[in-house]
Amino acid sequence: MEAAYVYQDFPHQSFSYLYTVHAEDGEDCYICKIVEMFEAVDGDLYFTAQWFYRAQDTLRCFFLCILFTNSRRDCLVAKLNIAKVSLNVDLEAKNKEIPSCDYYCDMLYKLEYSSFTNLPPEGKANASKEASSTISDDNPDTVNGANSGSEDASLPDLYSGCGAMSTGLCLGANMAGLRLVTVKMGCGYKYACESLQWNHPQTKVRSESAEDFLALLEEWERLCASFSSSKSENLERQGRGEEDENEDGDGEVFEVEKFLAICYGDPKEKGECGLYLKNYGPEEDTWEPLDGLGDCLECLKDFVTSGFKAKILPLPIDVDAICGGPPCQGISGFNRFRNKDNPLQDEKNKQLQVFMEIVEFLKPKFVLMENVVDIVKFAEGYLGRYALSKLIHLNYQVRMGMMAAGAYGLPQFRMRAFFWGARPNQKLPQYPLPTHDLVLRDVIPVEFEMSTVGWEEGKKIKLEKKLLLEDAISDLPSVGNYEDKDVMDYDNDPKTEFQRFIRLIREANFRDFPGVIVNSGNKVEWDPNVERVYLESGKPLVPDYAMSFVGGSSSKPFARLWWDETVPTVVTRAEPHNQAILHPVQDRVLSIRENARLQRFPDYYKLFGPVKERYIQVGNAVAVPVSRALGYALGLAYQGVVSNDEPLTKLPPRFPNISEKASSDSSQDNS
Ligand SMILES: C[S@@+](CC[C@H](N)C(=O)[O-])C[C@H]1O[C@@H](n2cnc3c(N)ncnc32)[C@H](O)[C@@H]1O
Repeated sequence: MEAAYVYQDFPHQSFSYLYTVHAEDGEDCYICKIVEMFEAVDGDLYFTAQWFYRAQDTLRCFFLCILFTNSRRDCLVAKLNIAKVSLNVDLEAKNKEIPSCDYYCDMLYKLEYSSFTNLPPEGKANASKEASSTISDDNPDTVNGANSGSEDASLPDLYSGCGAMSTGLCLGANMAGLRLVTVKMGCGYKYACESLQWNHPQTKVRSESAEDFLALLEEWERLCASFSSSKSENLERQGRGEEDENEDGDGEVFEVEKFLAICYGDPKEKGECGLYLKNYGPEEDTWEPLDGLGDCLECLKDFVTSGFKAKILPLPIDVDAICGGPPCQGISGFNRFRNKDNPLQDEKNKQLQVFMEIVEFLKPKFVLMENVVDIVKFAEGYLGRYALSKLIHLNYQVRMGMMAAGAYGLPQFRMRAFFWGARPNQKLPQYPLPTHDLVLRDVIPVEFEMSTVGWEEGKKIKLEKKLLLEDAISDLPSVGNYEDKDVMDYDNDPKTEFQRFIRLIREANFRDFPGVIVNSGNKVEWDPNVERVYLESGKPLVPDYAMSFVGGSSSKPFARLWWDETVPTVVTRAEPHNQAILHPVQDRVLSIRENARLQRFPDYYKLFGPVKERYIQVGNAVAVPVSRALGYALGLAYQGVVSNDEPLTKLPPRFPNISEKASSDSSQDNS
């Protein structure tokens, strides 16, 4: 097919030699940039093409892909022009910048780590044009260049749990010379917040849900704007109106000396959700809704203006980075009612959208989102794709990488997905390369295989020896079944040689108990010749469900971990019925501290709440060396000392066994 020539040149703004290429019947044509034409040995004309990738949600936007292939010349259909535009704030603004063209392109796409980054400048003239190509001065992307590492950078940690993610990020950023300060966490639950507050005494911990946190931020912005100028008079007038209404109503008048705090939610637990202020009253401090405070505008003004100065809450563009692991229980394999057709409609996955709404509102320079690998497995990776495309839609450069915690100095495999986002004027953070040997054991879908963070295959790298469970916990004191002490003294020097334990029986589990036999089909049966054994409590030593679990073929019930193994993942429920979580030599599940060691929480990291809650906090956490490694990458990107073309970076030698100066708000870890 001959090419139809519609090509028109836009100096410095468009690509040259762009063609549509025949696709399958009924499909839109593919679009490519011709890199070179050549004659093959058969005498036919061929061309090398660099392909464009179609953005599904807009008609005209394409991403330039790094993929190059050769095709026959007669596949070409028509010549096109595609404008090259910078990644600007919104489509309306972008449209002004786009010259008349068939399509436009604003990002470079690479299969590796599903990366979408700024288009590379083509020559100097182009580069300077790109750098100055901004829409307006309140645009968060106006300032182009590196940030100073000497100033504190702010990091709200959303869904913070007990704070492992931001703890590691702060420590890692510090290693790269950036003082990252965790602020104002939107976090769900009481006990996790207590743990967070104890371990991060200088951090202002907020305990509302993420959705209330977002509503609060929106209200706070409105209040700050209202008191910033003559608008405050409007608010005063409005307030007086409300006051009159209030007098007509229940007539309650509040006497307020000053306001102490602000929240969005239902602090009085009366089923009345809204914006509340905490009053310092003559008798006691109380939460009152903003609507009823028409009489207290001076106090409110003082509170808002001083709160604005003290940055008690982040405002849009104030924030340097946001991190968070929004829970997506709707994708868990344990959930039999998963909504495969539309995972975003599932209430259990709602937090992914809330997280993105907070990003959209605060417009931080950097975003780091963590999630389970199911995010790219469930429903053909629907939610993983949603996260990437949502960030792109919000004008972020993005990439996604799967990191196994065990590759960073832990005796735990724990594969998780990490999504980086960076505004167009920032460098996109990289993924830290593994430092420790590890055998990969999770299955990543083929489409995302190129997102597994690792060294190039075949490259000869001397990695540290993989870590084993013993390396982490064998020096801890014994814990009896009825132990009620929360804190125990060390009774041993630290020791790491696992050989001493090598003679113990491997893979011990309920199958080794008296009365149980394993048949030739590897299934368990009761031994008819042995009387069932009962414990002192009257309960059977081997419960029925252990025998029937997975049709009797599983060795997981009451299975022991082993000193010389890498633990699959630290779990949130300390229930040994269907998972191997028993201590290698003591008859009990791993303790909270032992699990915390496996996540590499420093021993001083104290956890609060009932036992069950503390197991959850530790099991939910991002493994500390992983967040620390990511923090190092963030520190480098923040200071602009990385290349967008290179998705990976090396960690300093001896990571994670190196100390760094911890930022005062993050932690005192020097491990
Ligand atoms: C996967 S964990 C995050 C762990 C954390 N990033 C860490 O490294 O320790 C998710 C956390 O979100 C909290 N959470 C659940 N629903 C929430 C909501 N609506 N708003 C805020 N936090 C919520 C859970 O209590 C849990 O602590």
